[in-house]
Amino acid sequence: MALPPVAVLTGVGSCLPERVVRNTDEPFARLDTSDEWIRSRTGIESRRWVEEGTSTGDLAVRAGAAALRSAAAESVDLVVVCTTTPDHHSPATAPWVAARLGLGPVPAFDLAAACSGFTYALAAGRAWITAGMARTVLLIGAETLSTITDPDDRGTAVVFADGAGAVVLRAGEADEPGAVLATRLGSDGTQVDLAVIAAGGSRRPVPERPDERGERCLRMRGPQMFSHAVRRMTEVSRGLLEGVGWPAGDVEAFIGHQANQRILDKVAELVGVPAAACLGNIRTVGNTSSASIPLVMDEAVRDKAVPAGARTLLTAFGGGAVWGAAALTWPDIPPTI
Ligand code: UT7
Repeated sequence: MALPPVAVLTGVGSCLPERVVRNTDEPFARLDTSDEWIRSRTGIESRRWVEEGTSTGDLAVRAGAAALRSAAAESVDLVVVCTTTPDHHSPATAPWVAARLGLGPVPAFDLAAACSGFTYALAAGRAWITAGMARTVLLIGAETLSTITDPDDRGTAVVFADGAGAVVLRAGEADEPGAVLATRLGSDGTQVDLAVIAAGGSRRPVPERPDERGERCLRMRGPQMFSHAVRRMTEVSRGLLEGVGWPAGDVEAFIGHQANQRILDKVAELVGVPAAACLGNIRTVGNTSSASIPLVMDEAVRDKAVPAGARTLLTAFGGGAVWGAAALTWPDIPPTI
């Protein structure tokens, strides 16, 4: 009996808004913060924010188009957009993105798994391919977190950012570079208040008073989020590596969700991943939630930072709480401009 197909990553692309916001720039001047605090506590020096009028879908289209070009794919069988900041509450953003990309009447849906969105999407896309429901899949992580951040809240305003990253998966074989060999996901809904937008959903549709405007913004219990993130990303990475039989010391490329440099360092240390394997861009990109992992991948492909076939570990944690990890071999993708 023939083995089921394996999902192979064959294209990557990204899009960052042009506007660069440095720690010393005007939006933060009115906050009781400093460049020194932000750098030392988060690792961030600058981030990108969209100009008013640019939506998550706009960034997703650009990243998706770049990934399709890089994979030389003209059509796909599924489009998934993972995001915390869809263009509208309803309908989903993915069908509009698929239409803008000229992909025809393809199945398209949004996936909400906060900062773990990309690991969830990778697991979903892989499952569609393994089940024979799709031969080629476009996965896009896209966010405009600046639109849900309270500019007066120093605990979130300096951290969150905008951007989009995308990958193309196609049906292939386990020994090809880019093969997604394993994924592992988890959640703990008792931790719903780690990071939450209180109003605007069905539980509390509209803030009643103008002074509740901030309830439409993301509130985060930073230190609690920090410790859950370290614990869960470490656990899920260890379990995944055990499952695929890779000693942590053999991991050649490690990309964690770019939440905080101190979280990333701690997870790498606890899991035992070599420092030389760690890839990231939080310094200049900030925390772009579900876009962060494919944004780092795209940068690494353009920099030719990792050889094709290298053992690669991805992991993420986000509000919900939700977490995930994936093991793949580094794809063989020529860098595109
Ligand atoms: O993307 C999903 C996953 N995200 C995460 O996992 C995020 C996890 N959390 C974090 O990255 C960090 O908790 C933050 C960057 C959000 C905050 O850093 P922290 O080191 O945990 O700071 P803290 O909240 O424990 O605050 C330490 C001090 C406090 O002052 P006192 O009480 O010691 O006087 C805060 O009020 O730093 C203060 N503080 C700030 N000071 C200057 C908090 N934010 C700022 C700020 N600038 N922006």
